[in-house]
Amino acid sequence: MMVTTPATMRTSPLTARPAWMALDAHYQKMRHLHLRQLFAHDSRRGERFAAEAAGIYLDYSKNHVTDETLRLLLQVAEDCGLRERIDAMFRGEKINATEQRAVLHVALRAPKGERIVVDGVDVVPAVHTVLDRMAAFAQQVRDGQWRGYTGKRIRHVVSIGIGGSDLGPVMAYEALRYYSQRDMSFRFVSNVDGTDFTEATRDLDPEETLFIVCSKTFTTLETLTNAHAARTWCLHRLGDAQAVRKHFVAVSTNSEEVTKFGIDTSQMFGFWDWVGGRYSMDSAIGLSTMIAIGPENFRAMLDGFHAMDEHFRTTPFERNLPVLMGLLAVWYNNFFEAQTVAVLPYEQYLKRFPAYLQQLTMESNGKHVTLDGDRVDYQTGPVYWGEPGTNGQHSFYQLVHQGTRLIPCDFIGFCQSLNPLGHQHDLLMANLFAQTEALAFGKTLDEVKAGGTPDWLAPHRSFEGNRPTNTLLAERLTPETLGALVALYEHSVLTQGTIWNIDSFDQWGVELGKALAQRMIPELENADEPLPGHDSSTSTLIRRYRRFKAG
Ligand code: F6P
Repeated sequence: MMVTTPATMRTSPLTARPAWMALDAHYQKMRHLHLRQLFAHDSRRGERFAAEAAGIYLDYSKNHVTDETLRLLLQVAEDCGLRERIDAMFRGEKINATEQRAVLHVALRAPKGERIVVDGVDVVPAVHTVLDRMAAFAQQVRDGQWRGYTGKRIRHVVSIGIGGSDLGPVMAYEALRYYSQRDMSFRFVSNVDGTDFTEATRDLDPEETLFIVCSKTFTTLETLTNAHAARTWCLHRLGDAQAVRKHFVAVSTNSEEVTKFGIDTSQMFGFWDWVGGRYSMDSAIGLSTMIAIGPENFRAMLDGFHAMDEHFRTTPFERNLPVLMGLLAVWYNNFFEAQTVAVLPYEQYLKRFPAYLQQLTMESNGKHVTLDGDRVDYQTGPVYWGEPGTNGQHSFYQLVHQGTRLIPCDFIGFCQSLNPLGHQHDLLMANLFAQTEALAFGKTLDEVKAGGTPDWLAPHRSFEGNRPTNTLLAERLTPETLGALVALYEHSVLTQGTIWNIDSFDQWGVELGKALAQRMIPELENADEPLPGHDSSTSTLIRRYRRFKAG
């Protein structure tokens, strides 16, 4: 079963579509409108340009959009086959065309009894079998029934992985730390830089440490190197190779490589090639999350994912959060020429959320050819970046407010604090709301002067405003909300990728650097190794490195 793109898409490039051209003409009018005008003309704008799903309220009123903009954007979505692509994904069709794979992270959170078929097999029962095995293991570790080789209780979990096998687990652990088992510590090692492993383990007791080696392929240089370092570290203290059984488990799709490494497949938690690495935090890759927050909370997180999946699948596009967010991203990226999107969580627990989103969005939509292999003649995925508020306000917000670039921002906040401390949550949220207000409406020269600022200083103190923002507001950061929030961005990515007609699920762009590094390793290790085929810059750098590496 293979579905790539509807035939119409192959014959009609995006920029030649009538709806796209209409949007372009509409943009010529919109670019001169200020958000102040849009709000002045519609006293109910703040209520009308809002939507809600799975516990998340999206206010998108502070964007450069009118009803007409939305109508045209929604038309583009229809014409680009978004409905068909969503349905194809949920049906298990191979929409990752260049890798000939289904894209079924939605099956990871499908409730028992639902049917999702890939190559003639319903995959949902297998998902639940793995979830049940994970739950049993996680519970044993949490209860202290699973013990280390010398009989000590496991107190430290070190998850080793990189990219999608790391960023999701780190983000989820940090995000849900409030719900975590506090007498255990959780660490994450990803970088092949030895400092990462060394610092993560320097105060740990190997007798009390469990390593979870996470790698979809189980061939990734960084992860395998760190996993070998972990085994050496562990056995150095415990002596006996038998100890590996008690201190290592694997999460992978590749049982052969797991066995080769020395982990018995009875201690392997599997997933499937239809789960992309950056879409895998809710698969067995989330084993560390499950140990930290417990199986029940993990299942609640899956429920949150599923609620957003259902919303995405069934809700008309004009009220569909991921569709609206995806289309707004396209609007700024392709018409306003915005190069980046800032994601600004006003929630300290979400401090790794922007880093997680970087892989999700940029590995997915950083593509320069269409599904048919043609060079695009428009911009694709923007750069995503961000930091928690209020910290960012004291570093880069200056540029967002008064710089020359347009930076659409997603503000994320919660009505309740998990750690109420005096009136600090009101202070935090006042800052969030104030920032979006200031960005939208600014402060005119006249207003600044009326406040007594001398003429010469007034231009420096005035704010043009007209900076667009989305505000995502939820009641409280819970496992459910986190699941819904991640699914919201996952589906927004699909929406954007569908409009751009690119494969949001492959990642060929990571290959070349990996291959060149493999070739270079012996050249760096051996000072006599000839250096054929390098440019003069690279060979000079390698020679210099060789000369000084011994210190
Ligand atoms: O190099 C990029 C990448 O392939 C990501 O897509 C992936 O999440 C990461 O490496 C890790 O891969 P693996 O889980 O196979 O170790």
